Amino acid sequence: MGKALADYDFFDPEVIEHPYDFYRAAREEAPVYRLPNTNIFFVSRYADVREALKRTDVFSNEFADELNPPPKNPEALAIYAQGWETADTLLTVDPPRHRVYRSLLNKVFSNKRVEGMHDYMVQIVNELIDDWIDEGEVDFLNRFCVPFPIYVIADQLGVPREDIELFRYWSDCFGSRLSQFADEAQEVEDARAIVQFQHYFVDKIAELRENPADNIISDLAQARIDDNRLLTTEELLSIIQQLLVAGNETSRASIAAGVLYFIDHPDQFDKLESDPGLLANAVE
Ligand code: HEM
Repeated sequence: MGKALADYDFFDPEVIEHPYDFYRAAREEAPVYRLPNTNIFFVSRYADVREALKRTDVFSNEFADELNPPPKNPEALAIYAQGWETADTLLTVDPPRHRVYRSLLNKVFSNKRVEGMHDYMVQIVNELIDDWIDEGEVDFLNRFCVPFPIYVIADQLGVPREDIELFRYWSDCFGSRLSQFADEAQEVEDARAIVQFQHYFVDKIAELRENPADNIISDLAQARIDDNRLLTTEELLSIIQQLLVAGNETSRASIAAGVLYFIDHPDQFDKLESDPGLLANAVE
């Protein structure tokens, strides 16, 4: 028998690292649970989550102010003032506006493009594994789970390999800002990184508008919405940021957690190895 829901502090780093007991307590005791002293309502049952996602007339995505409140440190605020404002696209807009942005991504993530990535993704997997296979032991998180999505997303966004470390750093700073756990020094560091990210991609967008290439940013930079206008710099930065952050942290954590499950349940790994047809289910 685990702890009662009221005994958990959701923001305790230990709970964040291993939230599954908290999830179970929430599902059992209060499937719609207001986290104490916050305005966050935590919905933990599948059917309720689906309902909330589908009822866009009742539940709104317009939560940009909660997602990115201004930093407490005025120095960080002054640094953000040297960059571009945050536009609301994708994650923080409701239908029908949402569809305008989403259809852009549906085009750039077409089945054809994603299927075309298969061999090259396998090649990256092989290269990463070749790098440590003879060592007998590996920090799998940092030498596989972290670089794999970064490489793929960076390639898709047209970021050259020599800038990958920068790219990873920006992703982590966006994550830190989103977490709202940053202290005032970290707020300044995050602000610097985010404004640096903006300048980097503003240059890239200008370059790709001049000379289109076969990557997602180039497609987005040429795309037209509304009355046949190009996307604004703010809209483009918002979409690029979401691709960077949404694709990295999530894929990194799910690959790592998946491998951990297989380590804990070797019989399940044997099953998958003898019947690769189970792969889709295993990923799910
Ligand atoms: C295991 C990996 C992933 C998980 C668990 C995950 C999870 C999520 C969740 C929960 C949302 C919010 C959905 C909503 O509020 O309606 C979301 C949105 C989004 N994700 Fe992912 N994601 C993953 C991988 C990726 C990847 C690889 C990319 C792209 C490179 C990506 C890009 C996005 C974008 C752009 C959105 C906003 C979509 C919209 O509002 O239309 N995600 N993701």
